[in-house]
Amino acid sequence: MKAEGIDVISFAAGEPDFNTPEPIIHAAIEALEAGFTKYTPSAGIKDLKDVIVAKLHRENGVDVKPEQVIVSCGAKHSVYNSCQVLVNPGDEVILIAPYWMTYAEQIKLAGGVPKVIHTTADSGFVPTYEQLREAVSERTKAIIVNSPSNPTGAVLPRQTIKEIAQLALRHNFWIISDEIYERLIYGETHQSLAALSAEVAERTITIGGCSKSYSMTGWRIGFAAAPPAVAKAMSNFQDQVTSNPTSFAQKGAVAAYKLPTETVEAMRVEFEARRDLILEGLRGIPGITVPTPKGAFYAFPDVSAFLHGEFKDDAALGEYLLTEAKVATIPGNVFEGPGHLRLSYAASREAIVEGVARLKEALARIGPA
Ligand SMILES: Cc1ncc(COP(=O)(O)O)c(C=O)c1O
Repeated sequence: MKAEGIDVISFAAGEPDFNTPEPIIHAAIEALEAGFTKYTPSAGIKDLKDVIVAKLHRENGVDVKPEQVIVSCGAKHSVYNSCQVLVNPGDEVILIAPYWMTYAEQIKLAGGVPKVIHTTADSGFVPTYEQLREAVSERTKAIIVNSPSNPTGAVLPRQTIKEIAQLALRHNFWIISDEIYERLIYGETHQSLAALSAEVAERTITIGGCSKSYSMTGWRIGFAAAPPAVAKAMSNFQDQVTSNPTSFAQKGAVAAYKLPTETVEAMRVEFEARRDLILEGLRGIPGITVPTPKGAFYAFPDVSAFLHGEFKDDAALGEYLLTEAKVATIPGNVFEGPGHLRLSYAASREAIVEGVARLKEALARIGPA
């Protein structure tokens, strides 16, 4: 619709709207001009692995050697590599719903079976110990943890992180910890799974990347840090499938990880202000309830009060909001979170104010049941 010149406000995008910071762009241009345009080692260049190792030590309390780091074409690629090397046909992988839909597809692409734990806003989208324990079976190969979460913005409490780790150790399964939103967190502290203990680190693949923290979604640079044997398998696998991530994008990523913390902090602070703005607006719409997201850049309001008459599900409601209000959202069903919409607040403050006003007006026409 946007391409047709229609004035759509998009709360659909899963990417920051800021420009990539200048020093990163310069580093990539310099690399290009210096002829750094050839193959690199498949698992990434040494200077990038070194800054990732330093970052994991400094910010995450995770200690790994450079050979345990596999630089990839994005966190998505690292999740895929993890599933491919760990999951055999028929293996179960635990997911905590609502979850990023790619996980389920990548588990299935490896022949695995997603074992889904359902959580709701009442528990802050945090699974109980009983739910976690009941999801484990003799076929459990791994759990995928995503804190802060896309789509709910939930940040798992340290206690839940510890419970997941305990179960993984007791029942001998892997933890794939997608920490891509770790820097975008509001009033909470990020806890890396692999930082809990050396024993837990031996069972954990930590996944991160530049996309969300440094507004580098198009650069396609992510990483996995894994126990040595898994890292070797992932590196061999990547070697046969993609070879190295783009050479000069890796140089840009080196510059990203060397940026002063204030650069990311400025973006985080702006996201927090936008979060507060969208929450205030959404809470002013009769019939909507929305928990406070603690991280990432998504609000996940409950819109089930509007699902009546011709609006059978959130997809139908989303379609109505797009055509009638010209506001794009993502239906919760996509994330196994029916009755919700996902709104990305990686949009300007003006767009947030205008978009929420349009939603209010369009939803008032339906009215809560
Ligand atoms: C939870 C989660 N993990 C990974 C990714 C993808 O990250 P990347 O751009 O590094 O592949 C996304 C992007 O939306 C995401 O939401």
